[in-house]
Amino acid sequence: MSDTLRDALIDEIKDLYNAEKQLTKSLPKMAKNATNEDLRAALESHLAETRGHVDRLVQVFGLLDEKVGGKHCAGMAGIIEEGSEVLEADVEGAVLDACIIASGQRAEHYEMAAYGTSIAWAKALGLTEVAELLGETLEEEKAADEKLSALAEGDINREAASDDEADDSDGKNEESAPKPNAGRQASARKSAAKSSKKTTGR
Ligand SMILES: [Fe+2]
Repeated sequence: MSDTLRDALIDEIKDLYNAEKQLTKSLPKMAKNATNEDLRAALESHLAETRGHVDRLVQVFGLLDEKVGGKHCAGMAGIIEEGSEVLEADVEGAVLDACIIASGQRAEHYEMAAYGTSIAWAKALGLTEVAELLGETLEEEKAADEKLSALAEGDINREAASDDEADDSDGKNEESAPKPNAGRQASARKSAAKSSKKTTGR
């Protein structure tokens, strides 16, 4: 466990290193499954940035005189696992894109919190160069998050909602107000996906 703030910072950096590595594996899957081209491009460009984040963390280990290494980040693993449930479910079209964005933004916010904390601790410890390197990554995480919001609020959410409306008018939504529960949400998404198949080609 961490005795000092410097130890705690090193733990955070190890956690982030592992989280970024996990993302370099999950972002290609998300990009491959995205149906919206702009979303796919945004995920691919963030994958390239994420590889840069790993490189920056390697530099941070060097500045801290620490061996490069990660510590399993259970937080990011959980976020990725939840996101991959959507990819495995029978969800398609704009609804799938909306769910991919939701998962991507969870990952970004997790990272933004961890980088924010690490930067504040590095500053408190007088580690200016470390704080600056981490700050460059934080800015890219924020920009990626904003880009995802813009894509969702630009078209994708509206398209996903219109898929739902088409579904309702088909009278297929027997369960109109389910309690939030994974099984029911999955069946609602499947139902929305079926409807999006019908409306493809608009
Ligand atoms: Fe990152």
